[in-house]
Amino acid sequence: MAAHYQIEGSTSAAISASVESGIRSGALAPGDALPAVRALATGLAVSPATVARAYQELRQRGLVVTAGRHGTRVRPRPPVATRRAGLMPPPLPGTRNLSAGQPDRRLLPPLGPHLAALAAEIGAPTGYAAAAVLPELADAARDRLAADGVPAEEITVTGGALDGIERLLAAHLRPGDAVAVEDPGWANLLDLVAALGLRPIGVPVDDDGPTEPGVRAALAAGARALVVTSRAQNPTGAAVSADRAEALRALLAGRSDLLLIEDDHAAELARVPLHPLAGATPAWAFVRSVSKPYGPDLRLAIVAGDEATVSRVAGRARVGAGWVSTVLQRLVLALWRDPVTAELVHRAGESYERRRDGLLAALAARGVTAHGRTGINVWVPVPDETVVVTALRDAGWSVAPGALNRIAAGPGVRITVSALDKADLAPLAAAIARAVRPTAPFGFTA
Ligand SMILES: Cc1ncc(COP(=O)(O)O)c(C=O)c1O
Repeated sequence: MAAHYQIEGSTSAAISASVESGIRSGALAPGDALPAVRALATGLAVSPATVARAYQELRQRGLVVTAGRHGTRVRPRPPVATRRAGLMPPPLPGTRNLSAGQPDRRLLPPLGPHLAALAAEIGAPTGYAAAAVLPELADAARDRLAADGVPAEEITVTGGALDGIERLLAAHLRPGDAVAVEDPGWANLLDLVAALGLRPIGVPVDDDGPTEPGVRAALAAGARALVVTSRAQNPTGAAVSADRAEALRALLAGRSDLLLIEDDHAAELARVPLHPLAGATPAWAFVRSVSKPYGPDLRLAIVAGDEATVSRVAGRARVGAGWVSTVLQRLVLALWRDPVTAELVHRAGESYERRRDGLLAALAARGVTAHGRTGINVWVPVPDETVVVTALRDAGWSVAPGALNRIAAGPGVRITVSALDKADLAPLAAAIARAVRPTAPFGFTA
């Protein structure tokens, strides 16, 4: 939709500030088209080069996207806080929300008892001098990663996986550089890449992870970094298999021009073994978040990597945010050490698996192809996202259209199994089958 907001300004800085202000106020909504460069230049009595510079600046900050004949539009989730929208659009009233991509809150370990125990033992307040990665946490992380085959001598801690990935990309790349990302992939990562002014190159994914020809093509196209989700790929549930890891390691071996980032966000929840790529390239990082098994609000991830890469991330943090609170670090350590929590996480993994496999089986029985080898999501390729999302909404289910996850991949919808119970699986699968193939005979009473 073309916007009616009046963009103002006589310099490129003023024009881009005016667009940003329109986005903040909500007058320019995601997807709204900005005027063509020449038309706006004429309207504002400035040169086309001035408007082009303003659009370029907005593009590099991830606020707008220019796509050939579609012109320049506001990005779906521009990185400015707007008065209208939160991070997640609210689910439609009266529908079951399967669109959130969140862990099941019923399955997250309770933090209260661990906070109470910490309160008893935490001692004197920590000042600036003592603040760093807690050696006990680093040791425990090293052991856990080593058990999964990740050589983790060097370790730092970040405020979650995406914070770690942002710091890694910012430390190695410059605006305009290309990053290879999975396609379909994690929407937040695509937003981050745009906000850093980086160029995404989509790498196709199958159930075994990013495809070897896809990574090869991305390297040939000049990718300076590659982000691979180890397990529970969002949205497809893919997990890097042993064979795929071997093929990718051979392809990447010795590539000193590439930063390799692995995102193992499912961590202890993943019920398939890890097949890491860590160490295949001289510059590498392995990021393990605690969000999915232990709770997103802990905002903590471990970043292991080669000495130079980890040192860049830790050193840059030191001159910025400083460190991740040792209170949080102690809490994560307590959760890791607690056998009851380990059992809860184990059971949560089983529960996601049951619900995912149950939905996949119910869909297969109705002839619908879907993916979800690991994690909390099921990805259903569909002919038309809007048709399927609307039909499912009318049947009482909110699911996420894949548009935010895709670059060139085909359409699909993402269904988060966190909110599903066993009794939901058959009616949901039937509704999906009807929505995907509205002309098929399912449910017809002629
Ligand atoms: C692929 C992927 N990585 C990481 C995360 C978690 O990131 P964080 O540690 O920033 O909460 C998610 C959450 O949905 C995800 O889908």
